[in-house]
Amino acid sequence: MDKKKVYSGIRATGRLHLGNYFGAVKGMLQLQDKYDCVFSVVDLHAITTPYDPNTLKQNVRDVILDYLAAGLDPEKCLIEIQSSVPEHTELAYLLSTIYPVSRLEDLPTYKDKKVQYPKYINMGLLFYPVLMAADILLYKAEFVPVGIDQEPHLEVTREIARKFNQMFGQTFPEPQRFKSDGEYVPSLTGEGKMSKTIEGSFILLTDDLATIKYRLAAVPTDSGKLGGEVPKTGGIATLFSLLRLFERDDLYKKYEQDYKEGNIKYSEMKKEIADVIFNTLKPIQQKRAKLEDSFDLNEMIEKHTQICREVANQTLTQVKQEMGLI
Ligand code: TRP
Repeated sequence: MDKKKVYSGIRATGRLHLGNYFGAVKGMLQLQDKYDCVFSVVDLHAITTPYDPNTLKQNVRDVILDYLAAGLDPEKCLIEIQSSVPEHTELAYLLSTIYPVSRLEDLPTYKDKKVQYPKYINMGLLFYPVLMAADILLYKAEFVPVGIDQEPHLEVTREIARKFNQMFGQTFPEPQRFKSDGEYVPSLTGEGKMSKTIEGSFILLTDDLATIKYRLAAVPTDSGKLGGEVPKTGGIATLFSLLRLFERDDLYKKYEQDYKEGNIKYSEMKKEIADVIFNTLKPIQQKRAKLEDSFDLNEMIEKHTQICREVANQTLTQVKQEMGLI
């Protein structure tokens, strides 16, 4: 029996942060041992929002290094740069012909981006979910380890797969999101999720202890004298979430008690959280430094790209045959 297929990608916006780590990478690590996995750096998605062409390639390399440092094993999974496998865009175009524009215009992610970048509302942004569907369907993936915010895009992917299967015959599985624990990492600003495009919201996997402390210092709190239940939103909630994510229930309980009694000391709590985070990140950073010194990234990418393109080509040929093009 063929192993089940897995696909996931992270936008090439530079080094990974804790949101990427808990939302996607942890799921990837769990799946790479069991399934046929392709993990991508999606540079074609990254260029739908404002970006600097001079740093894009370095951003791609940074994501790959972070992937490897965090534990993705190039002997177990395939690592892909999306734009090096042109079958993605070809399949995306073909799939776009069976999907309504009105559905794309209604997606919350598209609406949010329009508000975030009112001067950058381009066709690629509207097309984003179709390209993402093509990413996943190109490899006939059944599981997609991504954060919960990507659920609407996965729904689009399933709709496209279903419609294609109805129109042209059974071709694609309907992929499911693979949930990992702690998939939602709140922003350090206390509003929304941790995101690379929101300054002051994130902690990078490569941050040293001083930087982590500096970033945490900016998390908004209160006087510490209020007492009562721990808030569910805002900066204080973020601090408690971090203790949960890093599985420090002991510290969670301690500070919850302090909060209830109205004598919580946030400076002490933040210092302790910084230590907890840095202790987890340290081995990842040490591995990254070693890879930077000695690992031949280009050779690996070349090898993996070749394998990816072979698989991608099979799907694309099948799709073109079914659609009557060849
Ligand atoms: N949209 C995803 C994100 O922002 C990135 C992405 C692009 C992706 N293509 C994908 C994730 C395919 C999973 C599978 O996180």
